[in-house]
Amino acid sequence: MTHGLDVAILGAGGFGREVLQYSQDARAAGWPNRVVGFIDNWSGAFERFDVSVPLLGSFGDIGQIDVRAFIIAVGDPALRRKLADAVVDFRGILVSLIHPTAYVAPTAQIGSGTVLCPYTLIAANSWVGPNVAVNVYASIGHDSRVGGHCVISPYAAVTGAVSLGDGSFLGTHCTIAPAVAIGACSKVSAGSVVTRDAEAGSLLIGNPAKGRVMYPLSGSG
Ligand SMILES: CC(C)(COP(=O)(O)OP(=O)(O)OC[C@H]1O[C@@H](n2cnc3c(N)ncnc32)[C@H](O)[C@@H]1OP(=O)(O)O)[C@@H](O)C(=O)NCCC(=O)NCCS
Repeated sequence: MTHGLDVAILGAGGFGREVLQYSQDARAAGWPNRVVGFIDNWSGAFERFDVSVPLLGSFGDIGQIDVRAFIIAVGDPALRRKLADAVVDFRGILVSLIHPTAYVAPTAQIGSGTVLCPYTLIAANSWVGPNVAVNVYASIGHDSRVGGHCVISPYAAVTGAVSLGDGSFLGTHCTIAPAVAIGACSKVSAGSVVTRDAEAGSLLIGNPAKGRVMYPLSGSG
């Protein structure tokens, strides 16, 4: 195995513990890096669970700890962006994590720091930006574009030629119909089916989804 990086996971909640396991699965399959701990302002995970790596510090310690490579494991796009900015400010790097069961088409592109959880599918000629979290069983169809810092919840189906703006959130089991464009910092409620384009900052709910603009554009850019 090539010598990889020591990596800290930013976020020690449930998703963080999932990502720790995925990193160990990936390492067993040849991913060269090694998760050495968590960073979070909250230590609850360590009181309630038997976690195999330590809490290294809080978010304010990113620049002080002796680790320069990070994976972000939080489910809020605006916080993902904030943490990614902090990593860059302290000259750290975000590393990608692709679970061995994920399928990534050879023509697809994945940004730095993006996490592909088990059984995700990234289809031909799609582009998934930096620092995106694609949760279990979610799919990104051919020719789609998913902007940076987005969170794609379990079983979400992004069909073909979709455009999803930076910092957006897709709830579990939602569907985005082919060629739909959703503006930055939008949120799609769990189970919704989006059939029409939506402005930036939209909350989209229902089948077919109805939208209203209600979120600030803080996670975009
Ligand atoms: C899309 C979502 C994240 C929005 O959450 P939010 O930004 O906190 O928004 P809120 O819950 O404050 O809801 C905003 C408004 O939409 C309404 N709303 C939210 N979800 C709704 C739904 N499914 N049906 C009807 N109305 C809904 C709220 O009642 C509220 O209305 P109001 O402004 O009149 O009070 C949330 O609706 C959702 O789907 N969560 C599921 C998350 C998920 O799948 N997580 C998986 C993690 S692994």
